[in-house]
Amino acid sequence: MSNQNIFDNEIFFDGYSELRSREINSNNMLEQPAMKEMLPKQTGKTVLDLGCGCGANCVEFIKSGASNVIGIDISEKMLSIAKEKAFHKSIEYINMSMTDISALNRKFDLVYSSLAFHYIEDFEKLCKDIYDLLNENGYLLFSQEHPLITATINGNGHYNKDESGRKISYTFSNYNEPGERKVHWYVDDVKKYHRTFSDTINALSKAGFIVEEVCEPQPKGWAMEKWPALYDEFIKPSFLIVKARKGQL
Ligand SMILES: C[S@@+](CC[C@H](N)C(=O)[O-])C[C@H]1O[C@@H](n2cnc3c(N)ncnc32)[C@H](O)[C@@H]1O
Repeated sequence: MSNQNIFDNEIFFDGYSELRSREINSNNMLEQPAMKEMLPKQTGKTVLDLGCGCGANCVEFIKSGASNVIGIDISEKMLSIAKEKAFHKSIEYINMSMTDISALNRKFDLVYSSLAFHYIEDFEKLCKDIYDLLNENGYLLFSQEHPLITATINGNGHYNKDESGRKISYTFSNYNEPGERKVHWYVDDVKKYHRTFSDTINALSKAGFIVEEVCEPQPKGWAMEKWPALYDEFIKPSFLIVKARKGQL
């Protein structure tokens, strides 16, 4: 089972960096505000950020009182920016795949991941590994692309419009065929993994997690004012966010 490291591809990295540098994007307008509302208290807590990218969230955890943070990422390019722009003495950045986290010989109060789990094939194993790394009553909070988005082979889900050009519905397919998807995003053959909603929740439950909250973020008024395209989220959600607690097996 090989992990693709697409963020180290120069063309992909440049495109993605440009997208994230904009004030108006789905991260800033939709996914991050919803994640922040669901974050458990971090004062004095230890945090592991899986697929931490450029480290922006790691710094936020420290600002919110976390005692120390480990950010891991498979991409050297993303981590080199994190080490420069999101440096803090209580943050450690490690270049590793989250498929190898069982090798981390530590315990955490919070495992966090923003928009990275859809790059992972074996979600059941990942859930078990995370469960083992958490302290009792520790939390996992993650976001991923919504299964309605990852479903269609080749990423060819699309909106349908009425005669006046207004988007009215969204077409997707292959929902009940979980597995690898290769999509075009800045470059060809970006690998993602589709899982059904039930497979996702059942993997967490099987690992021993108690699912406390599930969110398919709806855009807020302030965000739609800045970016009317967010009205599309009422047709279909872009993200799935889950907050789960380590229970007793
Ligand atoms: C969409 S970016 C999100 C980055 C960051 N979490 C954020 O919200 O700004 C996804 C990140 O997941 C990382 N990633 C993908 N597969 C990974 C893996 N197997 N192990 C660790 N990181 C991975 C990528 O390198 C990239 O930095």
